[in-house]
Amino acid sequence: MKIFNSSKEYGLLGKLFHWITFLALLVQIPFGFYLVSLEFSSERIELENIHIFVGITIFYFTLFRLIWKSINPSPTNIKSFFRGQIFIGKANHFLLYASVFTITISGILKKLYMGETLNFIFFKYGFEKDNFILADTYYNVHVYANYLLLALVTLHILAVGAHHFVFKDNILKKIL
Ligand code: HEM
Ligand code: HEM
Repeated sequence: MKIFNSSKEYGLLGKLFHWITFLALLVQIPFGFYLVSLEFSSERIELENIHIFVGITIFYFTLFRLIWKSINPSPTNIKSFFRGQIFIGKANHFLLYASVFTITISGILKKLYMGETLNFIFFKYGFEKDNFILADTYYNVHVYANYLLLALVTLHILAVGAHHFVFKDNILKKIL
């Protein structure tokens, strides 16, 4: 299998980026909701640190994915079944990336405005001063961006289903 994308299908790296992110989000979203349902304890702090580590890893991974996409464009061979279809698909992909960045950056800002020092894997960083109002605002952004991501992923999967079962254009083969 080729590493690079062709005009017809994603290459190995594009496929790995897509499915590893899918699996990571499948765990990370329910994990986040579970985390906030826990009472304050040392176990919860440990789980929160794991949530943060996985979240920062998803941030870097998505950044590498976009750098890869910029030097290796996605397959362009797309059949259009109605006007605006390609635009809707591209908008959905753009918003999926945007919501993952909004979630990760708002999570990071919430912790930094709490006055905590974060481990960014390659370095550690913290603000000098806390600001609980901004920490709260970014936390709200974190929560709503998660709902947005869930809505976008639902649309994405419904669209793939429509392509596969209604239009029968073998779209799934591009990414499998
Ligand atoms: C967390 C869940 C998911 C996310 C965040 C996600 C995200 C994305 C993104 C961002 C792209 C565009 C890639 C590019 O830059 O070219 C894409 C493409 C694609 N995804 Fe997903 N995806 C998810 C789940 C799924 C699932 C479950 C399926 C299959 C049922 C799927 C099938 C596809 C297909 C077929 C494409 C290619 C679409 C095209 O080229 O028009 N995705 N996905
Ligand atoms: C794509 C990556 C991420 C996803 C999908 C995600 C998802 C979630 C979800 C669903 C919640 C529960 C929200 C609620 O209902 O109140 C949550 C909570 C939280 N997330 Fe994330 N998150 C991600 C990355 C991050 C990052 C990078 C950080 C910080 C560096 C972070 C920090 C937090 C914190 C501190 C909480 C709340 C825990 C508490 O109540 O103390 N998250 N996250």
